[in-house]
Amino acid sequence: MILIDGKKLAAELREELKQEVSELKTKYNKVPGLTVILIGDMAPSQIYVRNKEKSANEVGLKSEVIKYPDTVEEKTILDKIEELNNNDSISGILVQLPLPKHIDKQKVIETITPSKDVDGFHPMNVGNLSSGYESSVPCTPLGCYLMIKKIEPNLSGKKAVVVGRSNLNGKPMTQLLLKENCTVTITHSRTKDLKAECLEADIIVAAVGIPELVKGDWVKKDAIVIDVGINKTENGLVGDVAFDEVSKVAKALTPVPGGVGPMTIACLLKNTIDCFKRSQK
Ligand code: GUN
Repeated sequence: MILIDGKKLAAELREELKQEVSELKTKYNKVPGLTVILIGDMAPSQIYVRNKEKSANEVGLKSEVIKYPDTVEEKTILDKIEELNNNDSISGILVQLPLPKHIDKQKVIETITPSKDVDGFHPMNVGNLSSGYESSVPCTPLGCYLMIKKIEPNLSGKKAVVVGRSNLNGKPMTQLLLKENCTVTITHSRTKDLKAECLEADIIVAAVGIPELVKGDWVKKDAIVIDVGINKTENGLVGDVAFDEVSKVAKALTPVPGGVGPMTIACLLKNTIDCFKRSQK
């Protein structure tokens, strides 16, 4: 079984991106800039944002985190986004989710200009991705996609099962696999026989947030299994895949932690650089 080392792959990707930033600096005499907006003091968000900033600095991007208390008014955030939209030195804008209840998430997402939407959440980017046009692609599914391609460069005709239909993961993951000519099944909480669906798959991407849902006897021999879940349980941090069981049948599997997580952050940096490059065209 191949243990897909997300940490190592992310480090390799960051090294490539660092080189690219250095070349862009020579060519344009400036570097891509990423601004992250963080609202409130939720611990997981604080940790994610700290990691994003650290990685951005490591590859030579200009990065800034703007923090607000969770009582901040929606208008303050929308005005700040408008200001960043109009600032030429900012290539990418990310508003860390989740947001406090009084702030309309969709309004925030739609205020970010699509060309700086490093999350790929703006309806314009969602539409472009599903139409097969150039777009920002959400970081987590992009990271999953790159890991799958490392294991199996030719995905044409493969059967993929995506477990979970979220806008963050399941739906964009499906689009990426479709572009590679996979036959994709999207499953979710109302799917009648999830085990039977998974048993058909050459590739499984589990992104539902249910601890160890995907069992060893749900997985076909030599399938590639990507675990997007991060669930806190009494037994510590576990994914959506029963790791020990599945590792006995799968061809390749991502661990939790150290799988999808580091690649997600590296892909945010990639998206920031890609937004910068498109803006220079
Ligand atoms: N919170 C958890 N994951 C994400 C993500 O990919 N983007 C943003 N903006 N917030 C998140």
